[in-house]
Amino acid sequence: MSLSVSIFGLGYVGSVSAACFGSMGHSVIGVDVSRTKVEILDSGRTPIIEAEMSEMVAAASKAGRLRATTDATDAVLNSEVSFVCVGTPSLKNGKLDLSHIENVAREIGAAIRQKKAPHVFVLRSTVLPGTTETVVLPILERESGKRCGRDFTVCYNPEFMREGSAVADFRNPPYTILGASDANHLAPLRELYKDVPAALYETTIPVAEMVKYFSNCYHAVKVGFANEMGTMCKHLGVDAQAVTKIFTSDTKLNISGAYLSPGFAFGGSCLPKDLRAITYKAKELDLKLPVLESLMPSNAEHIDRTVDMVLSTGKKKIAQLGLSFKAGTDDLRESPQVQLIKRLMGEGMEVRVWDEDVSLGRLAGANRQYIEEVIPHIGSVLSADLEAVLRPAEVVILGNKSASKDRLSKHLRPEQIVIDLIHVDRAKRPEGAKTYEGICW
Ligand SMILES: NC(=O)c1ccc[n+]([C@@H]2O[C@H](COP(=O)([O-])OP(=O)(O)OC[C@H]3O[C@@H](n4cnc5c(N)ncnc54)[C@H](O)[C@@H]3O)[C@@H](O)[C@H]2O)c1
Repeated sequence: MSLSVSIFGLGYVGSVSAACFGSMGHSVIGVDVSRTKVEILDSGRTPIIEAEMSEMVAAASKAGRLRATTDATDAVLNSEVSFVCVGTPSLKNGKLDLSHIENVAREIGAAIRQKKAPHVFVLRSTVLPGTTETVVLPILERESGKRCGRDFTVCYNPEFMREGSAVADFRNPPYTILGASDANHLAPLRELYKDVPAALYETTIPVAEMVKYFSNCYHAVKVGFANEMGTMCKHLGVDAQAVTKIFTSDTKLNISGAYLSPGFAFGGSCLPKDLRAITYKAKELDLKLPVLESLMPSNAEHIDRTVDMVLSTGKKKIAQLGLSFKAGTDDLRESPQVQLIKRLMGEGMEVRVWDEDVSLGRLAGANRQYIEEVIPHIGSVLSADLEAVLRPAEVVILGNKSASKDRLSKHLRPEQIVIDLIHVDRAKRPEGAKTYEGICW
């Protein structure tokens, strides 16, 4: 089924979207405030330089499926769906400049006022979560005098193309993300993307908005990380290409979803130690590696955040489940749980600790000695009796995964507050407590 779409903003995202939807057989009207860009596209030429664009624009234009205008009303009245791809640049202070989005929303809203048929407004520009529903939607309702969900609908559809391979990325994206407050609003978008061979996610508008930032910030972290580790390689006389080739071949831990679940601080006997060794070596070499240097302070922030969250409950009786940095080990070296318990005790909390793997009765050797000599105050509140630890607690901190949903659900009470630092899957979360939260999810 061919649809009629208007595309507002004929920059990289808008021009590529216009050419690609046109080549897929849909009827496209491009809109821009720049007369030059409109004249170029309207005459069958591409306003941007990208592989395949010239041929695609010329073909769609020749077939009568692509035209351009500066008149927003003409575009809205003659299309079923409007994609908004205008720029969202940074202001001097870094804040997102929404003025182009707001202008376009006013223009489209005013045009919807004149339109009898329902209209679909799809934001494609990158905006912070909440922007579509709290900034754009009210402008559309005000300017149109109509109601979203009844007379028109609003969706969010982020773009994942990269300049230089934009057309290929449009045709073969990592995924297609469609955000709406009601899945029924997505029907025309499903039709438009039905031939795109990518996983399709239908979700809420704020999730769709945030996936874009999660992705771009992660890409920036990856580039910064690779450049800093490469710098270390260079100064240590190591072949960076040989290292990255081996590193990226690990799709189990390195290039995977591992370590990407927001939860709590890292710890254990390796990560903090190895980070410190690399950043110390960098100092010796007079190298500045701000990404790597920021990781230990970033980690400490999560412990601070947890303490703040516990303090904000106003409760004093705390059950900490998990003492080692992860379940199934008794290794307490650099356990962030130990740091957290020390901090909570320092704030005058009555903390009881349960950890099956670290119960004093079962411990031997180095870890028993560590508890008895370094953290005897924690050793004295450590118990292997889950019920005894949970019974008096007002706040329950899930510090590692040793306690199963069933075991915990037997003991939790509605008035208890659970702080989950391990980000348990929704389906596996223990039941019983009314308040259940994490510090970074
Ligand atoms: N460039 C990319 O690779 C890329 C990739 C994914 C997402 N994005 C996001 O997509 C959005 C657009 O990016 P871009 O690089 O295509 O921007 P761009 O600056 O190249 O183009 C934006 C266009 O919008 C036009 N415009 C401004 N106000 C308008 C109005 N009222 N009506 C019609 N047109 C108007 C401008 O004249 C310009 O031609 C941004 O939010 C960006 O962050 C960009």
